Amino acid sequence: PPLDTLLNLDEIEAAATSQISKKCWAYYFSASDDLHTKTLNNLAYRAILLRPRIFIDVTHANTSTTLLGHRVSTPLYVSPAAMARLAHPDGEAGIARGVARFGALQLVSHNASMTPEQIVADAAPGQLFGWQLYVQTNRAKSEAMLARIARMPERYKCVVLTLDAPVPSKREDDERAALEVRGVVEAARSPAVVGEGGKPAVDAGVGKKLFFGTAADLTWETTLPWLVKHTALPIVLKGIQTHEDAFLAARYARKHPGTVKAIILSNHGGRSLDTSPPAVHTLLEIRKYCPEVFDTIEVWVDGGVRRGTDIVKALCLGAKAVGVGRAALWGLGAGGWKGVDRTFEILQGEIETCMKMMGAKDLSELGPRFINTRAVERD
Ligand code: FNR
Repeated sequence: PPLDTLLNLDEIEAAATSQISKKCWAYYFSASDDLHTKTLNNLAYRAILLRPRIFIDVTHANTSTTLLGHRVSTPLYVSPAAMARLAHPDGEAGIARGVARFGALQLVSHNASMTPEQIVADAAPGQLFGWQLYVQTNRAKSEAMLARIARMPERYKCVVLTLDAPVPSKREDDERAALEVRGVVEAARSPAVVGEGGKPAVDAGVGKKLFFGTAADLTWETTLPWLVKHTALPIVLKGIQTHEDAFLAARYARKHPGTVKAIILSNHGGRSLDTSPPAVHTLLEIRKYCPEVFDTIEVWVDGGVRRGTDIVKALCLGAKAVGVGRAALWGLGAGGWKGVDRTFEILQGEIETCMKMMGAKDLSELGPRFINTRAVERD
């Protein structure tokens, strides 16, 4: 279907599903065990009600903000998600092109299907990226990657350390589609995906590491000092799911200025531990038990975003930025870089409509007075 006939993210997902391979669909769609957390990620937003104020001049709504000190025109960013070329040969570079018009930060997965250099090569001037790290058992490999990222300082502005997937989870849709390492790489190279005579979709250096996963022995005491030694970039800890760990991250940031600058409340889109909490719950916990975290480090969230209202609600709860993982991949599957552009056009439009309907002219005005969270605050 023509992209401009797709009106929401469900329709983008349906359009992508009809065009991508079954294996690609299984890989993107799947989550762990019974998909409770994946489902709840979105339901938690729906359970929050908005409290719009009226009689306010909302001719303009300003969605610009700063992330890690860099000006961006939207709080919406791209979460790191592996293997974009499974959906479309435009791949991660296509996501970059698709979000360019919206000035959204793009976090590039450790397991991207293109090299970090290829992804930024044609990016619009001023477009910002972060690079996501799965610490390898062989630390020298990770150190070499960090050195590569450090060579592109005008592009890569942070290192995102993912911590919520220390071991593989059980993803039954993937298993059913017999998706294993070789399967992914072969599917990504298939002519149906990359086009006849197309270059291999997976860069040998990056793609082969896929699913070899992260080391399981990471700790506050050993891993952060190691990482700080090997990158000068701000560190973003991804996969925080409790107020206890948010507190520890903020404490580390206070003790070691210039290291950890942000956390991402995330459960990996429900792909790691099923029945782990949605970001909304973790935001509420932090508000209750350690609200100073919000003043110490930036709190970003991802998981389950389908509507602009979801994004605005997260911002009202204290998030500085909100990421989408699958939405960008579905956009890519629905129409390459233009599908990503359409996806972000929809979300950005919905953010602005929501703000105006609520009487908020600027992101800085958003706060708890705009939401009713009674239905998600049972503890
Ligand atoms: C992911 N995610 C992820 N996270 C990460 O840190 N490194 C990675 O390589 C990947 N890979 C990945 C692949 C796919 C197909 C998905 C769907 C997700 C998790 C991602 O960054 C993010 O946390 C979730 O996708 C957010 O949830 P939504 O927006 O997909 O609901």
